[in-house]
Amino acid sequence: MNALKRSLWCLCFLVGVMSTNVSVSDRDTEKLVIGKQGLLEPGVALFLPKDVTDYPATLALTKKPEIKLAFPEAWDIMPVFERRDGKTRVRVAVPPDTDFYGTGEVTGPLRRNGRSIKLWNTDNFGYADDDGRRLYQSHPWVLGVRKNGTAFGVLFDTTWRAELTTGDAIEFVSDGPPFPVIVIDDTGPQAVMKKLAHLIGTMPMPPRWALGYQQSRWSYFPDSEALRIADEFRKRRIPADVLWMDIDYMDGFRVFTFSPKHFPDPKRFNADLRARGFHNVWMIDPGVKSDPGYTVYDSGTAQDVWVKDAKGGNYQGEVWPGMTVFPDFTRPRTRQWWSGLYRDFMAQGIDGVWNDMNEPAVFNVPDHTMPVDNQHRGGGELAPGPHLQYHNVYGLLMVQATREGIMAANPDRRPFVLTRSNFLGGQRYAATWTGDNTSSWEHLKLSIPMSINLGLSGQPFSGPDVGGFGGEAEADLWAHWIAVGAFYPFSRGHAIKDGPRKEPWAFGPKVEKTARIAIERRYRLLPYLYTLFHEASLTGVPVMQPVFFADPRDLALRGEEQAFLLGSDLLIVPRWARKPKLPSGTWRKFSLVDGDASDPYQAELKLRGGAILPLGRIVQHTGEESLDPLTLLVNLDDKGVAEGQLYEDAGEGYGYQKGDYRLTTYRAEVRDGAAHVTIARGEGARARPKRDVVVQVLTDAGMFSAKGEETSGIVVPLSGAAKK
Ligand code: NOJ
Repeated sequence: MNALKRSLWCLCFLVGVMSTNVSVSDRDTEKLVIGKQGLLEPGVALFLPKDVTDYPATLALTKKPEIKLAFPEAWDIMPVFERRDGKTRVRVAVPPDTDFYGTGEVTGPLRRNGRSIKLWNTDNFGYADDDGRRLYQSHPWVLGVRKNGTAFGVLFDTTWRAELTTGDAIEFVSDGPPFPVIVIDDTGPQAVMKKLAHLIGTMPMPPRWALGYQQSRWSYFPDSEALRIADEFRKRRIPADVLWMDIDYMDGFRVFTFSPKHFPDPKRFNADLRARGFHNVWMIDPGVKSDPGYTVYDSGTAQDVWVKDAKGGNYQGEVWPGMTVFPDFTRPRTRQWWSGLYRDFMAQGIDGVWNDMNEPAVFNVPDHTMPVDNQHRGGGELAPGPHLQYHNVYGLLMVQATREGIMAANPDRRPFVLTRSNFLGGQRYAATWTGDNTSSWEHLKLSIPMSINLGLSGQPFSGPDVGGFGGEAEADLWAHWIAVGAFYPFSRGHAIKDGPRKEPWAFGPKVEKTARIAIERRYRLLPYLYTLFHEASLTGVPVMQPVFFADPRDLALRGEEQAFLLGSDLLIVPRWARKPKLPSGTWRKFSLVDGDASDPYQAELKLRGGAILPLGRIVQHTGEESLDPLTLLVNLDDKGVAEGQLYEDAGEGYGYQKGDYRLTTYRAEVRDGAAHVTIARGEGARARPKRDVVVQVLTDAGMFSAKGEETSGIVVPLSGAAKK
């Protein structure tokens, strides 16, 4: 064979081998053509792979969606389904230069390009397992923002264990059978978030106290120690609204019991806290101690509510109380039983519930959870299935039952539930915190993209353990953390058992002062924050937003993850932020509390040009009146105009759903050298109290202000001496 022949022969052999390989893998792969596709509403397309003829039971969505409109001729984002190696794979090609966000509770950067995560809820202390690629919650959802600022979102409606990779395309590989995919396509990321909310619902309006600063530790006990902490806050004049009771309040870690030694009279204790202006939240875990004679165990056993092992026996795993059994929340009957347990519990004057360990976490077993072949019996819409199918929604179903139980016990009050584990759509039932972080700079910085991406996955009410849960916090780190931590939607300090104290006064007087200023700033902002929560509860647009929301077409902002927005008007720039990319326009810096400008840790706050920010007075808790006078902080745009809204209601209960609220739009306009501030629009039947308003107008020359009665309008001359 001459050289030419030889190389031709080699080439043919190679091609032969390659084509053999291709055909082998083709034989293993079953392409799943799309059986049904159509629009649920304009801009929202549903794709059902062949053989999925009806929409299966859904826990992410509020209801099974229906195709209402024919599939349009032009549609950009298409899923391709296939089955391989017993898994369902979906590939979604995306336009080049797409930036990815969302994907739930994740470590790593805000921009999710080139990331691979596992959707398998995991008790992940310090985010150490699997390099933090799986955490406590799963959100099979990706938000994509195109180069031109338009956006799309892809929702994979399945609860089975899965992996999600965001590279040139979005790839989703599920351990379960074929499932529906929904694609949203709209003019920008905010519009996509609103359409996501049409599908998965929104966060219901929380009680106003839940927006205050909250203090926790594993654990405050006995009751006198918890009251001492509450007294310290009041004595030191650091505002706070909630004190948290971690597991040590229980009798031998039996859920729904109280230690006779440490909390002999929880009702009285809760009343004592209330007298100090504190609400309370108490922990309940899912695991029930296997302990004949313990009423919760006995009643659950009598009603046969426990998750079964592969052989059909009650599965037992070790958690805090020793061997425990686990309610099978896929069963309507179990959920009803669980809800019922809250009746007597809430009657102890309990305000809120903290559901922890609900991945569910199990000690001393592989993967910290129960075996994947454990059996859930389902019921109602839900088919029986293995733990592999229902693991990721164990927490969601638990908090659904918890919330229903609390509502039945206190029908006139808004429930508050905090959960560690959850799933896409779970914001309908509970707020969340980001689990066991550590007191490290890495986790402080990480907390911002984590909470933003949770918001971009439908969960607006989140925050990390402020100051870090595990490890020792250096005073400097803790001061930086509280300075930013005052602005998370959910703002709670927490700390691990037996570790050093992490209350705001634990780091000496200088840091205590920083904490007081930071928390006072939150309390001044509460009218605005509450307005944002109301908006999120209606529209699904998150409270904490990425900076690029200010201008989705400005590519320079897409990766910014140190600074963030609260709503569309307020920019928070942490003091430690290095070269943050900030939106263009006249964002003006302002001070909220005496001493914040000179404090070395406080974040810089900036108000959007064209915005009016409603502010309250500094109060020690949300039970104190804070809106007389109301302050309106104005930053005029280049046309000399600004607008802003204030939402008010009773802060509790459901009167607001029957019209007992007031949504006021204030407008400022410059005429004849003065800013004229008036009520442009009012909505709702809640009577307007006669109150004073202080208007402060930020300008290049400094701040001009004037005071007047709200309904008569206020005129602020923009001349004379301005406050610098
Ligand atoms: C684990 C939780 O993540 C943590 O916040 C809590 O303090 C402990 N469980 C003890 O209940």
